[in-house]
Amino acid sequence: MDALPIRSEPRALGPTPLRAFPIAYGCWRFAGTSVREAREKVEGALALGIDLFDHADIYGGDGAAEELFGRVLAEAPSLRARMLLATKGGIVRGVPYDSGAAHLAAACEASLERLRTDVVDLYQIHRPDLLAHPQELAGTLDRLRRAGKIREVGVSNFTRTQFDALQRHLPFPIATHQPELSPWCLDPLRDGVLDQCMERDVTPLAWSPLAGGRLGLAPEAAVREPEGSRLAALLTCLDGLAAREGVSRAAVALAWTLAHPSRPIVLLGTQRMERVRESLAALRVRLSRRDWYAVMQASQGGPLP
Ligand SMILES: NC(=O)c1ccc[n+]([C@@H]2O[C@H](COP(=O)([O-])OP(=O)(O)OC[C@H]3O[C@@H](n4cnc5c(N)ncnc54)[C@H](OP(=O)(O)O)[C@@H]3O)[C@@H](O)[C@H]2O)c1
Repeated sequence: MDALPIRSEPRALGPTPLRAFPIAYGCWRFAGTSVREAREKVEGALALGIDLFDHADIYGGDGAAEELFGRVLAEAPSLRARMLLATKGGIVRGVPYDSGAAHLAAACEASLERLRTDVVDLYQIHRPDLLAHPQELAGTLDRLRRAGKIREVGVSNFTRTQFDALQRHLPFPIATHQPELSPWCLDPLRDGVLDQCMERDVTPLAWSPLAGGRLGLAPEAAVREPEGSRLAALLTCLDGLAAREGVSRAAVALAWTLAHPSRPIVLLGTQRMERVRESLAALRVRLSRRDWYAVMQASQGGPLP
């Protein structure tokens, strides 16, 4: 069987000098523990080779995830040099979006303070603000970058045309695009986002790579979910591959995303170290072309033409 390549070497973030391990640590669910537990998670992830930590100013509610992470870095400052810190701004509770110059400049400053760092490696626009002209947004991001507050720029949940409009006004390339992507969420395969990533040398960062936990459900629980019979069929397909490969279902699901030729980085959501450790088995899963399409067909509930 010819296996699709799933390389474990660091993946470039677009055409930038930044490199990250293909499995990254998502911090959406990071808040709510002691600093000691949080530090164990950060150090545990780094020990496994995971070196990109994905935040947003809203994670944990009002910056709680960044704040806790910053406390870890204050306690152990040497950790900062071993990681890439990514965060996002642009969602404002009750608005819901603001990528205007004043808001983003203040949001970035607040993230830096909470994270207790001088620079964010990757600053992402969390969701498109339909009221922000891309020229204005590009100007804001360029100023933040020139001021040394951010190293590179990414977007999240943009359409292809929103991406193009922003890129058109930016004097440097957008490094990453963060869409929802998993064996359950196939949208970026169909809406052209992954094609655009390959066309433009942009690295996809796959959010909710286990569909927010749906891909971890027992089949009996899955059937009670919306579109439960289709979900259960996908889980059965993933389980068959997991049994063959001798890894967890989660590892197969992550491997499926990692095998796409756009070379995505997956953002793990689990905060349990044993699951983070198990996830690394994704890098040794051998999926054939037939396996990959079988997962896609199970997910969409019917054969490809
Ligand atoms: N840009 C955006 O708009 C956006 C939106 C959402 C997320 N994100 C990013 O994507 C990251 C991941 O999102 P996510 O948390 O939804 O990811 P996910 O990996 O799809 O889901 C994680 C959830 O699945 C559960 N889970 C159940 N079974 C599991 C298993 N076998 N292995 C691992 N986890 C299992 C986890 O619970 P346990 O913790 O108990 O293991 C956790 O609650 C976030 O942290 C954030 O960085 C970005």
